Amino acid sequence: MKNTMPTQKTNTSNNPTTFNTLTVVKHPLIADRMRTLRDMSTRNNDFKEASRQLTVLLLPAATEDLSITWESVNTPLATTNAARTNDSQIVVTPILRAGLVMADAVCELIPKSATAHVGIRRDPNTHKPVRYLTRLPESCDSYHIVVDPMLATGGSAIEAIRVIKDHYYRNCISIRLLCLVAAPEGVSAMATTHPDVHVYAASLDEGLDDNCYIIPGLGDAGDRAFGTEKHPPP
Ligand code: PRP
Ligand code: URA
Repeated sequence: MKNTMPTQKTNTSNNPTTFNTLTVVKHPLIADRMRTLRDMSTRNNDFKEASRQLTVLLLPAATEDLSITWESVNTPLATTNAARTNDSQIVVTPILRAGLVMADAVCELIPKSATAHVGIRRDPNTHKPVRYLTRLPESCDSYHIVVDPMLATGGSAIEAIRVIKDHYYRNCISIRLLCLVAAPEGVSAMATTHPDVHVYAASLDEGLDDNCYIIPGLGDAGDRAFGTEKHPPP
């Protein structure tokens, strides 16, 4: 296939930086849905649907090591071994608000997963994360998939992962972050603070503007998904 864009531990062609802790998942369908997200004329519901579809497209790369057990099933023609995923080992953690759409998509594919919630908003002046809600399951014997569409400075995701690690006394087997758009600054900050956390993204963008928004990015993901504030064209 001529247009094949393989998953690789490197980034987009317009950004020469590489990170060992980042996998940018490449596929024409991912590129197409990213266009939908970036286009400022996309309506809220279409934005949510594209975010959901992107999450479904990214999830296989982030869960390649999901454990399975084999069981015998009868097809109409024969008996064969078939796989069953061990869903209940997974905790999905959306960073509110914008991560909620992605979490719904993960839970559709991994229905027995538990969902943890971490509410964090960026202070508009300092751009530092402000946590306002934490609801985590009591125990975690496998791994967390943290979901948030935007990794900008990295402050919000770094704080969410710190909270998860502190809550489970660092006993969680593995934590991974699924995002749609990452900035090099955020990937770098994450690698410094939580080098054990691998990031999976649909795009590595150019960088941050003076307000710590990702360029070219897609604007404020939460506002665009939930129709709260409107950002004027540049
Ligand atoms: C956005 C986004 C991330 C964060 C990324 O959330 O969903 O959580 O910003 O920025 P950072 O990497 O610099 O921390 P926001 O604070 O806008 O809250 P919202 O989801 O409620 O809109
Ligand atoms: N949060 C967003 O929603 N978008 C950005 O570009 C940066 C932080």
